[in-house]
Amino acid sequence: MLSSIERRVSATLRDVRGTAARRFFVDRQTGLWRSELAWLGVRSRDHARVTAVLDETPDTRTLVLEPPRGWVPHQPGQWTRVEIELAGVRTSRCYSLSSAPHDPELRLTIKRVPNGRVSGRLHALRVGDSLRLSPAEGEFVLPATPGPLLLLSGGSGITPMRAMWRTLQERDAADAVIVHHARTRADVIFAAELEQLARRRGFVVVVRLDDDPRGRVGFDEVALRAAVPDLAERETFVCGPPAMMQRVEAMGLARLHVERFTAAPRPPRALDVRAASEGAPQGVSLRIQGREGGRALSVRTDGTLLDQLEAAGERPASGCRMGLCRTCSCLKRSGTVRHAISGAISDAPDEIIQLCVSVPCTDVELGPVVRTPSDRRTNEVDERVKVHAHTPVKKVPR
Ligand SMILES: Cc1cc2nc3c(=O)[nH]c(=O)nc-3n(C[C@H](O)[C@H](O)[C@H](O)COP(=O)(O)OP(=O)(O)OC[C@H]3O[C@@H](n4cnc5c(N)ncnc54)[C@H](O)[C@@H]3O)c2cc1C
Ligand code: FES
Repeated sequence: MLSSIERRVSATLRDVRGTAARRFFVDRQTGLWRSELAWLGVRSRDHARVTAVLDETPDTRTLVLEPPRGWVPHQPGQWTRVEIELAGVRTSRCYSLSSAPHDPELRLTIKRVPNGRVSGRLHALRVGDSLRLSPAEGEFVLPATPGPLLLLSGGSGITPMRAMWRTLQERDAADAVIVHHARTRADVIFAAELEQLARRRGFVVVVRLDDDPRGRVGFDEVALRAAVPDLAERETFVCGPPAMMQRVEAMGLARLHVERFTAAPRPPRALDVRAASEGAPQGVSLRIQGREGGRALSVRTDGTLLDQLEAAGERPASGCRMGLCRTCSCLKRSGTVRHAISGAISDAPDEIIQLCVSVPCTDVELGPVVRTPSDRRTNEVDERVKVHAHTPVKKVPR
């Protein structure tokens, strides 16, 4: 008798799994209970509570957060995926942690992007609100025993640098040059902290403003080489606007680490899903492995796998949606997909692809899809995806 009830309950759950019904009823109720518990001071396993909101510049705010229960300290430079609900749909974006691992609280420093869906909502958060965070990820991290460093940033690209310099301060053994670019003095994020840092032993701080009448606008290689004469001996970490990053990469620095917040400009082909599917049939099948035999869908060859899986009620994990963060990495068992930005083709079996920039060209079979953080335990990382994340894909001349 019991097993027949269990069977019926599990069949019903299977029906609502991944559907709008689940999003609107189950998830929303869970969210409501979570916020009630947050107000009562009960720490959630994957939700951080806002304990302070700090205005850094006219368009940038820091959220000071009580870490989720069981949070594993991040490495300086790593990011977390923030998930919020927008019009009933869970939406996530990546944000670098601007706090250091030894800080008692977590900090996210968020620039409000004009018409930005998530950054706008995060700017509206108040003390007591809570938001879902994924475990920290990323390879843009301070070395365990760093030598001479250059931390080079522009705009909100300074956020991972703060985690790094605070860690160096704590260790009290720094040899770091910090070069930061901003439009005007009012736009310098962490301005007061940079001023204090400039007075500390082991740190040199250079702030370059676009509106400085004495200087050239934006990043300038000549000025950088003049400000950092021993540039070649320094391990360089750079994070800033795409144009600045491109120019730094073109300098050919030997030990360069790059963190991108937005995709590099590749006009006119950025996320050009139509070009990505040129010559391919219009409808193909997509099989996803999983419990109970997985799922088969019919998908189009003019859209990314991520968009189409979401439209079909699946909830694959995603972050940047631009092929940068690898949150949506998934094992492709068979079939051919084309990278919507680079045009690279993946046609060999068992290759890791990014769902957000992969457009199907033939029938495709995927391994199990990693779900949104809500389906994972805090700080539980999918090792299968992490290990294979660097599998190269073939470049095809276009
Ligand atoms: C690894 C990583 C770490 C990041 N860390 C930070 C951080 O510490 N602080 C921070 O403020 N942001 C950070 N970002 C960027 C952040 O994830 C979002 O992309 C950004 O907040 C915009 O999201 P949105 O939903 O508000 O904008 P969307 O609604 O996605 O976009 C709205 C419009 O703005 C454009 N746009 C999107 N992002 C940007 C951008 N960054 N600058 C200019 N225009 C943009 C889009 O092309 C679009 O036209 C990081 C991104 C990555 C991949
Ligand atoms: S969501 Fe970031 S790589 Fe796909």
